[in-house]
Amino acid sequence: MFRTKSVDSLLRGSQEAGQKLNRVLGPIDVTMIGIGAIIGAGIFAMVGEAAVGASSGYPAGPALIISFLITAVACGFTALCYAELAAMVPISGSAYTYAYATMGELIAWIIGWDLIIEYAIGNVAVAISWSGYFNDFVKTAFNLDIPLWLRLDYRSFVQKGFDLAAAPHLLGIPIVFNLPAVAIVLALTVLLVIGIKESTRFNNFMVCVKLVVLAIFIGVGFYYFKAENWVPFAPGGWKGIQVGAATIFFAYIGFDAVSTVAEETRDPKRDMPLGIIGSLLICTAVYILVTVALTGMMPFMELRSKIAEPLVAGLEYNHASPFIIGLVSLGSVVAHTAVLLVFQMGQPRIFFSMSRDGLLPQYFAKVHPRFKTPHVTTIWTGLIVALLSAFCNIDEMANLCNIGTLFAFVLVCGGVIILRYKDPARPRPFTVPFGILLPILGILFCLFLMHGLDKVTWLRFAVWLLLGLVIYVLYGFKRSRIRKVEA
Ligand code: ALA
Repeated sequence: MFRTKSVDSLLRGSQEAGQKLNRVLGPIDVTMIGIGAIIGAGIFAMVGEAAVGASSGYPAGPALIISFLITAVACGFTALCYAELAAMVPISGSAYTYAYATMGELIAWIIGWDLIIEYAIGNVAVAISWSGYFNDFVKTAFNLDIPLWLRLDYRSFVQKGFDLAAAPHLLGIPIVFNLPAVAIVLALTVLLVIGIKESTRFNNFMVCVKLVVLAIFIGVGFYYFKAENWVPFAPGGWKGIQVGAATIFFAYIGFDAVSTVAEETRDPKRDMPLGIIGSLLICTAVYILVTVALTGMMPFMELRSKIAEPLVAGLEYNHASPFIIGLVSLGSVVAHTAVLLVFQMGQPRIFFSMSRDGLLPQYFAKVHPRFKTPHVTTIWTGLIVALLSAFCNIDEMANLCNIGTLFAFVLVCGGVIILRYKDPARPRPFTVPFGILLPILGILFCLFLMHGLDKVTWLRFAVWLLLGLVIYVLYGFKRSRIRKVEA
């Protein structure tokens, strides 16, 4: 259970015939994958709640800029750790693989199981949010309104007080589900099966669109900037800044997804650190500029009117042209799509690695003979995420995603420390500076953020891990490949 798999044997496993991926990605592709995964619902939707503090009672106000800086530094510690491990062990399993090499099979399984929460459950949240923005966009641009029963889950439909009798019925059961969310997930799944290069080309295009849209927003925001909007600067004091930092953590998730394409990168030793750290730096700069613009262009409390669409709220407050408002709505749909694409790309590659190691059935380790993609896991991930996004509620999914990701970050920082002692001589194309200080700070900060999450989220997380443990005992424990090799 506590046997580790050596880095060499992990690397050998990735070379086996029929289970080998295509090395086609360069440094720009991987950096764009990082930006694709990072900029999404966080900056386009969640900054509203963080600035106003509607549900927590602690507004960050314009000091949200400081919240963004704090979370960036914290994610920076983890990004450096990911960079060290991804360059040293360039395998598509990401944190799962690093845990296998450092902490043993049981922890590796747990982390693999936990990453489902980051990638698949996170994507359910993004798909639901995508659907909301897509509807707004088609409404503004084409005056089309998708019926409520076709774009909400059953519970949200009832909670918002809509009449179930108005939905169509089949055998007496009302039909209420989120069709746009299902459709986008399935469409991206098809693209991901066809090829990694095709998928990254589409991602590169979307990243350019969202960066241009945000640049326009920043320009407009600076134009309307008024210094008095920054008074008071920190209305919720230190607590507001802290709660804001925890809320916008979601906006930074994604730089780690770069590590899931390590096996498809031509020169992972150089490009993994570049993609992980580069994408985080670029997104941090963008986030801070957007927040300066947003909080400077309106009194932050005015965001309450449209809390889920803060950037649009800022533009409307200043009576910006409908064209610019439409452009920002479109930018939001595109940004959400890119996040979905990269997370749908990452999840199957983690399953794929777990299956290659024997912890999941070998059926999942198949690579498509023509497209060279892990098509079996890609299709299964697509079907499960599509099904869940048809019927699930967004808030629960986003919180679960935060806790799962933070847990993975803790283990990755821990993995760097362990490998420094266990395998000090192994060449490290990239090394986190200042010994083990930054990984320790990374662990402490992630634990601190986890501590701030509510009890229900912790409970759901514990139940999920327990379920994973049962599956491991019943399946992976007996069938793992290192067990077979050593037996
Ligand atoms: N960072 C991603 C987003 O904000 C998950 O949508």
